Amino acid sequence: MEIIISNNINKIHEIKTEALGIGVFSDEDLTSMPEIIRNIDNNIVIEIIKNDFQADIGKNIVLYNLNNKLVKRIILVGLGEKSKFDIDNYTIAEESLAKTCISNNIKEYCSALITRLSVSDKAIAARNSVISIKNTTYRYMDEINLCNKKIEKITNFNIITNKHDQKEIKNGAYEGQCIADGILLSRKLSDLPSNICTPSFLAETAKKLADEFESITVNIMDHDQVCELGMGAFTSVAKGSKEPLKFIEIQYNSGKKNSKPAPIVLIGKGITFDSGGISLKPSNSMHEMKYDMCGASSVLGVLRAIAKLNIDHNVIGLIPTCENMPSGNSNKPGDVVTSMSGKTIEIINTDAEGRLILCDALTYAKRFNPDIVIDIATLTGACVVALGSIYTGLFSNNDELAAKIINAGESSRDPVWRMPLDKSYLDLLKSNFADLSNTGGPSAGAITAGCFLSEFAEHYKWAHLDIAGTAWKKNNEGATGRPVSLITKFLIDTNNAN
Ligand code: BES
Ligand code: MN
Ligand code: ZN
Repeated sequence: MEIIISNNINKIHEIKTEALGIGVFSDEDLTSMPEIIRNIDNNIVIEIIKNDFQADIGKNIVLYNLNNKLVKRIILVGLGEKSKFDIDNYTIAEESLAKTCISNNIKEYCSALITRLSVSDKAIAARNSVISIKNTTYRYMDEINLCNKKIEKITNFNIITNKHDQKEIKNGAYEGQCIADGILLSRKLSDLPSNICTPSFLAETAKKLADEFESITVNIMDHDQVCELGMGAFTSVAKGSKEPLKFIEIQYNSGKKNSKPAPIVLIGKGITFDSGGISLKPSNSMHEMKYDMCGASSVLGVLRAIAKLNIDHNVIGLIPTCENMPSGNSNKPGDVVTSMSGKTIEIINTDAEGRLILCDALTYAKRFNPDIVIDIATLTGACVVALGSIYTGLFSNNDELAAKIINAGESSRDPVWRMPLDKSYLDLLKSNFADLSNTGGPSAGAITAGCFLSEFAEHYKWAHLDIAGTAWKKNNEGATGRPVSLITKFLIDTNNAN
């Protein structure tokens, strides 16, 4: 989709287009109705707004047979009450316009909605709306070649504004396009079934990113190499499956001189299928466990977005990836393994495998002397119970870092809610047969999982994002691409602060 920002709001009647989106407030002052409408269609539109259209937020009406022959259709878009019209409501309205265009098979359209927004900085508005429009146009079935049914795609989107806002909107829209590309990569990888999206497939995807961007380099480690490093917790999970494990190391180097040498490390849980292992999961929604690699797919998505944006900060992605399967060679409840840190772990439940692969990646991260480490994981069903599908769970050993992530989540519409990490929860992870147990019993499951990880993240500022509730929509509606938007925003903010 090509996105153009033009400054011809005053000449709107001269634009030739398949559809023109015009925003209308529910409490519109018709005496001061923007000139754009008068210019276009001698009062027919005004009459419709007066009598037929209730401009609730996101409501659309498509008008044909206008006097202006250059514009094939006018789409009136409800903006809700004028005093409540903010960046979020603007984004909702823009998304509803995109949906209407898609359902009417419109391939090219113009939108003048942003001219009705009265915030001074319109870059965030443009960024968020472009992300949400590109998210709306994503269809999994178009991404793969397993289906013959193609739907029409929007090829051209034209944001109409004035000279004054044009530059800011252009910058915001460009940022949005780069972030959306990362989100769509993440969604596609996540939606792919586990027989296609294997650990090797994820490794190949990382290599393709390195081929595409000069700033990205990739190193893939196999079973022997991670054994050599002593990753006994990670390898114990992988050994139950015939599918070979991979440890993906993907580096983004900005190449600019003022890049801070201490990198930010992102770790993504890459369980391409989580059957639970010997502690087998019930079968009713087991198919959803193809999504247990959404942490990994979001790390790859973020790397794609920041490489496109060329941000000025070094970032390293670490992805331990394997399947969690039952077999004659699987972990068994009661087994004790030794992690790369030297700490021993008693595996009470083989379904608590995420923390086993992540703890070794957290230890491995130390060698980069990182400024910050953030892990992203579909870690616990308990987090879904606690926060549902709205907030991602945030855990951190550093208040300043947590505050920055919360801010980035708010401004990117990809929000997180901080959960506690008190030392006292660690009592629940005591084992009589090892340094730690891998499960903490039935209560506070998301927190005990976070506490388990914190035991391996003592040497740097660290945050853990539990995306079990937010990474995909239940009922087979597909992956969301969260938290690519949040993390990319966080990295942009960190970059700007330096
Ligand atoms: N991948 C799951 C967590 C999960 C479950 C995410 C449902 C999204 C939806 C994870 O590996 C797991 O199975 N966790 C267990 C931990 C328990 C055994 C301590 C869980 O949440 O039940
Ligand atoms: Mn599990
Ligand atoms: Zn899992």
